[in-house]
Amino acid sequence: QSAVSSRIPSGTATPPISVVGIGNKVAKPDYSEAKIVVATVGLPARGKSYLSNKLMRYLKWLEYDVKVFNVGQLRRSRARQLALTTGQRGSHNADYFSHQNAEATKLRDKLAEDSLEMLIQWLKDGGNVGIHDATNSTRSRRQKIERRVAKEKGIVVIFLESVCDDPAVIAANVALKVSSGDPDYKDMSPEMAKADFLRRIKAYESVYETITEPHLSYLKIINVGNQVTMNHIRGYLQSRIAFYLMNLHLKPRSIFMSRHGESQYNVEGKIGGDSPLSKRGMAYARALPALITDNIGDAELTVWTSTLQRTIQTAQLLTYNKLTWKSLDELDAGVCDGMTYEEIEQAYPEDFANRDEDKFNYRYRGGESYRDVVVRLEPVIMELERQENILIIGHQAILRCLYAYFHNLTQADLPYIKIPLHTVIKLTPKAYGCDEERYTLPIQAVDTHRPKPRATKQPDDIPQTTSRREYYADPIVA
Ligand code: F6P
Repeated sequence: QSAVSSRIPSGTATPPISVVGIGNKVAKPDYSEAKIVVATVGLPARGKSYLSNKLMRYLKWLEYDVKVFNVGQLRRSRARQLALTTGQRGSHNADYFSHQNAEATKLRDKLAEDSLEMLIQWLKDGGNVGIHDATNSTRSRRQKIERRVAKEKGIVVIFLESVCDDPAVIAANVALKVSSGDPDYKDMSPEMAKADFLRRIKAYESVYETITEPHLSYLKIINVGNQVTMNHIRGYLQSRIAFYLMNLHLKPRSIFMSRHGESQYNVEGKIGGDSPLSKRGMAYARALPALITDNIGDAELTVWTSTLQRTIQTAQLLTYNKLTWKSLDELDAGVCDGMTYEEIEQAYPEDFANRDEDKFNYRYRGGESYRDVVVRLEPVIMELERQENILIIGHQAILRCLYAYFHNLTQADLPYIKIPLHTVIKLTPKAYGCDEERYTLPIQAVDTHRPKPRATKQPDDIPQTTSRREYYADPIVA
């Protein structure tokens, strides 16, 4: 890469510094050596699919190639094919899952094997983590998996067992299964579906063997968040997976996100820097405590800010515990820090165009890309999973990355997510995803969202989720 030209952009006090040898497109990390089978273990309704999906979302956010191979889905798709070709509609009620039913047991074993074969092939074709989402609840089933994977050089298997004896959690999982339009139960009344599903669980209970095999690599998670046993977990990615799963919990909680109040730089259209709040930004800081307390009541909450003064000022009247994170500082715009978008376009036209072309991967000269930010936010995500109610007072790019994790949004959409000023976003994690509410305070602020230029995909294509609510505190005069 050549040195950056040092043309002085209009309106900036200092010329951009010259930076040599910094590329402006960051390559995807090379994870080609990472090949893991995660085989779930546990009775139905114990949260295996929940853990699989959370793990998938986390690893995908870190750019691993992850796929869940759900044996139940394979069973249903084969049954559909059979019905189409022969007109036979096999029944998958609880009798099908009884271990006295030798024929069905053979069929189910075959499905689990086929699904594992597809998974292994997918890993060989370049995937990193394949999740075998099944009950795998007997020693002999686990032995088969272990023996099969051992034949493949470079592929390892970890068993992930979810044990749950909390009747409330089991009841909630059963209710979710029968009320979520699950294809197994679409032709049954909710009462019949529930009775059948409970019979299915009983059938599995009669043969279930919790993991005790001392030589296996496994993680046993007891009542998500309460206790974790680890055995033979070695290697970087395996440890990372274990650490993530150890931090998960199911306690009801909310994650609030807000950008700092409008800053002086926001008003001037400049990016980055460490400017103080504007008058309207200060009004937002004054209004924020009432909004949060109205929402959370007496519950505990911790406020996280970055080290930049605009977030600290925004948090100053909040009376909760506070924590300052360097990792929450805004995306570093390098030589463009303190410039307006127009000035950047003038001084670095090529860079500007490159950023529009591929905003996630573009790295500012001497600064960061969105991809770099995702990497540095990983400890924040880990801690967010561990914590309960948190309010993050952050920045536009930072909150986009965190928001994308919780809503499972793509890298292409991430840099264009709308996170307006003077708005609190409340995320409430649910079994599969998050509910969202937005509270917009009636204090004017500039709009800092720069849409993607028309030639390519439109920002309005980005999914904006669930419910929104306008929140009006006492009128505030900015
Ligand atoms: O404009 C406010 C701001 O937080 C800047 O400091 C930062 O560079 C920018 O937003 C990030 O948004 P984008 O990636 O859309 O330029």
